[in-house]
Amino acid sequence: MANETDLMERIVALAKRRGFIFPSSEIYGGLNGFWDYGPLGVELKRNIKQAWWDDIVRRPPEGPDGEPIEMVGLDSAIIMNPKVWEASGHLAGFKDPLVDCKECHSRFRADHLLRPFLLPLHSIPSSGQIFDTVQFRAGDPARLDRLVDQPDASKLQVIVREALNSRKAKVIEHPQAAPVHGVQYFVQDGNSSYFLGLDYDDVKLGDRCPNCGAQLTGARQFNLMFKSHAGAMEDSASEVYLRPETAQGIFANFRNVLDTQRLKLPFGIAQIGKAFRNEINPRNYTFRSREFEQMEIEFFCHPDQAAEWYEWWRDARFQWYVRHGLTSDRLRLRDHTADELAHYAAACADVEYAFPFGISELEGVANRTDFDLKAHQETSGRDMTYFDEEAWQRDAPQYKPEHYGGDKKAAKQAADEAKAGPPYRFIPHVIEPSGGVDRAALALLCEAYDEDEAPDEHGNPQPRTVLRLHPRLAPVKAAVFPLVKKDGMPEKARAVYEACRDEMTAFYDEKGAVGRRYRRQDEAGTPFCVTVDGQTAEDGTVTVRDRDSMRQERVPSEGVVAWLKDRLGRG
Ligand code: GAP
Repeated sequence: MANETDLMERIVALAKRRGFIFPSSEIYGGLNGFWDYGPLGVELKRNIKQAWWDDIVRRPPEGPDGEPIEMVGLDSAIIMNPKVWEASGHLAGFKDPLVDCKECHSRFRADHLLRPFLLPLHSIPSSGQIFDTVQFRAGDPARLDRLVDQPDASKLQVIVREALNSRKAKVIEHPQAAPVHGVQYFVQDGNSSYFLGLDYDDVKLGDRCPNCGAQLTGARQFNLMFKSHAGAMEDSASEVYLRPETAQGIFANFRNVLDTQRLKLPFGIAQIGKAFRNEINPRNYTFRSREFEQMEIEFFCHPDQAAEWYEWWRDARFQWYVRHGLTSDRLRLRDHTADELAHYAAACADVEYAFPFGISELEGVANRTDFDLKAHQETSGRDMTYFDEEAWQRDAPQYKPEHYGGDKKAAKQAADEAKAGPPYRFIPHVIEPSGGVDRAALALLCEAYDEDEAPDEHGNPQPRTVLRLHPRLAPVKAAVFPLVKKDGMPEKARAVYEACRDEMTAFYDEKGAVGRRYRRQDEAGTPFCVTVDGQTAEDGTVTVRDRDSMRQERVPSEGVVAWLKDRLGRG
């Protein structure tokens, strides 16, 4: 198989060729950070969203006690009152540091630029605790180019050569601060071995551009929310924002949902929808886009149970990706270290995937405590508390007048005071599993992509490209062909196709050699191809070919829909 850069290029080419993903408004040169999903792509995305919705809202999983958890759905507006973004902190803090190249005007996120440095290999202690006090790095005027993170191998080789040619010794005053948490490589220079580390640190004015080597500006902060105006007047009073996450629509509706659905803690509200971020540097295909879709859950629970629910959701969400085909060791679950946590988060983990361009986040699961509801309560003045009726009914007898010397007034006052606060009235804590539909689709395409050989019509092996997508997510479940366009085969195949179409996404094709038709469906990820052939007229059977094993089985044409449904599993 190709190296990782080639692999990504092949996946992108397949996605374009077969109508999964197109650059948005391509006829006008496209628009950076925006993508359109073609006929196959839209089916893939819809299947991902439907699978998520069915597994989360329609048939929620069983919680730690073995009972199905309580989940409801929501579809809130993309544009909301700007006060939402004031309360959530997005207006003040949803910013990324931006740097520009003074020469080629490329724009980068400063926190995505790596500083390469070299260490002689003998200086790396076996314990890995403390580095030698000497770090080799290039100083002015031969300052090393910065690298955009997740660099490809060829760019790294240039950096390594340059680093070796221009190194200067520099004493690090605080050796215990080993500056290594980026990518690390061992490099050979004649008889000497070096360790090449790539580290994130503050980009300084004059650092060199990864594109052209000219000087970069210093970093400045840039808010990622897209701004627009609601109504005819374009003044500050009419300023609104496209939501950068669906989550805040859930928090803003917490009271409405609680009051109308008679829910008891713990319960979750789920939402799928578009989100927009004016990313400084959209890249890695659809991975970092400016318009994308999120699948978010806000799971509200008692503060005492938040830690347990956090672990439960983290593991459940990881397993969901495994169940849908991300079975290789490219998928991993990574707990955030304490210094990575947002100030309001008690815990956070990322479901990550090793894309051909690097390991990156598919979904984050966070214990957000009561941060969001509290912030909305403070900003809106609306009550975001929950009253635990069960706990109160349990304890209410303690507040009977006989415990207050028969003084009804005193008993009522004590009861009212108790009911106003914990453990009866409190702001719920929140566990938030937040995933991206586009990133899930991209990871699934990467995982599913494979190249092997399939026999042509003469039985000779030919290279084939196949998408081994999970049947539940495959855009087309069954393709139906007549072997040839005569002897009544097209009519019979059409009838089979129409029966399939009532139950699943199906495709009919009668053009070209059957081997080529199989190969087209392999590339589209279609798990089964059904062929009507000469034997069909004799015994009423059709052949069903399995995409992955390429084995063919004869199945009665009357029962083929049931046969397929059985193998496709529950939708
Ligand atoms: N409410 C929490 C939240 O929005 P996030 O980590 O910023 O957290 C959640 O985003 C998920 O949304 C990510 O794990 C990713 O799958 C998706 N996502 C975020 N930014 C994206 C972008 N620019 N392009 C595509 N997907 C993105």
